[in-house]
Amino acid sequence: METFRQLLDWMDQKGDVATVSRIVDPRHELTAVMRHMQKGDNKALLFKNVKGSEIPVATNVFGFRSAVAAALGLEEGNLLRTLVAQENRRLPVDRVTDAPVQEIVKIGAEIDVARDLPQIVYAEHDAGAYITAGVLIAPHPETGVYNASWNRCQLVGDDKLRVRMMPPQHLGRYHAEAEAKGQNLPCAIVIGAPPGLMFSAASKVPYEVDELEVAGAWQGKPLRVTRCKTIPVDVPADAEIVIEGEVICGTREDEGPFGEFTDGYVPVMKNHVFKVKAITRRRDAVYHAILAGGTEDLNLVGVPIQTEIYKKVSAFVPKIKDIATPGYVFGCVIAIEKQNEDQPKNALLAAIGGYSWTKVVVVVDEDVDPFNAADVLWAIQTRCTPETGIYTVPRIPSYTREDVRDVHRGKVGIDATVPVHLKGLFERRRFPGEESVRLEDYIDVGH
Ligand SMILES: Cc1cc2nc3c(=O)[nH]c(=O)nc-3n(C[C@H](O)[C@H](O)[C@H](O)COP(=O)(O)O)c2cc1C
Repeated sequence: METFRQLLDWMDQKGDVATVSRIVDPRHELTAVMRHMQKGDNKALLFKNVKGSEIPVATNVFGFRSAVAAALGLEEGNLLRTLVAQENRRLPVDRVTDAPVQEIVKIGAEIDVARDLPQIVYAEHDAGAYITAGVLIAPHPETGVYNASWNRCQLVGDDKLRVRMMPPQHLGRYHAEAEAKGQNLPCAIVIGAPPGLMFSAASKVPYEVDELEVAGAWQGKPLRVTRCKTIPVDVPADAEIVIEGEVICGTREDEGPFGEFTDGYVPVMKNHVFKVKAITRRRDAVYHAILAGGTEDLNLVGVPIQTEIYKKVSAFVPKIKDIATPGYVFGCVIAIEKQNEDQPKNALLAAIGGYSWTKVVVVVDEDVDPFNAADVLWAIQTRCTPETGIYTVPRIPSYTREDVRDVHRGKVGIDATVPVHLKGLFERRRFPGEESVRLEDYIDVGH
């Protein structure tokens, strides 16, 4: 898929887009509806009438892991294996001048971010409206290599946004290098980005690698880019909306509070200031909104984590069934076809060191569904030997947000696999016919 709207169309054809035509308030009401959807059918939502905006809002397009796979043209069953096999591919960009994303152009004094974009306020104590589905792209101030990352942006008004982009995050490092030379960092915020770019932006691509080229490789075709109107930055020509601007040198302002992906609030912090120079968009642009910590966010963050861990664990365990991050992304569950007692221990250690945020790792047998948290808890309770099967690694930091980092120290691994010699004793029951029975063929109508 090469565009955000192709992804939406694909979901629609499967019956996985629910449309909302009634007027919805972007302050809290839109999120409340989104929350209900994520707890229920988890379909994508298309809000056609968002109060105060002529731009419709799409959300939850990556509500299912299978949508991440499909957007990259991959099979979900083989997802991690394929992502690892293909991660070094690059395709140079294709520069074009006919850019749908520049059908409408607003420059300078014409801009008011508090009027030109949907003003979505998510959680109760949020400081105001935020862009949560913006892919920030910038060329490195010296090498010109493009970085892409997701960063929340507080919509302040007129031409101002506030952005959190702290080093070691690559964009924060780009800005620090520009700042050291006394320069602003030219940067574009892409909303409704091509799926390959959205995935690349969520992944840990090495600092030296150009993420526009990685995005092209994921979509299987060079990324069509066009030059911004006001800054020397190339942006995806087929995106929905682009905000052009600069991250200001030497300035930090209070940003937050914001209800972020851990389901708590990031307090007010001194963060970067983004000065908007232009907003360009398609005539019929669709705005993408992501609920931090919702199903869509956790898939976008989770699949790259699962991939990194797969890479590390597969060096020790030849038969990995799959790796999942059920419930949250500070832990993972590795389902393996275990051949000896060393494999789960090696898998635990590799995963604990394999991704900085990962602080709880569980290894289960192949007959346990790693995506199903209840099944994983069942395996821990029925198969783990706490005396010998729980490993703690003290002091290692995982989530390093300044104010909560001490809570996230130390890591734990749980071996919930059955000893090889007892496998027969732990065979799970099967109920012949269960897969083919359809309840509606049995239950009396009306009961
Ligand atoms: C929807 C979404 C929102 C995100 N928001 C932020 C954010 O506001 N600040 C941040 O530092 N990382 C955020 N992230 C994580 C980074 O984009 C991600 O870690 C990325 O890989 C970092 O880019 P880098 O490899 O270029 O450093 C977000 C990720 C997603 C999927």
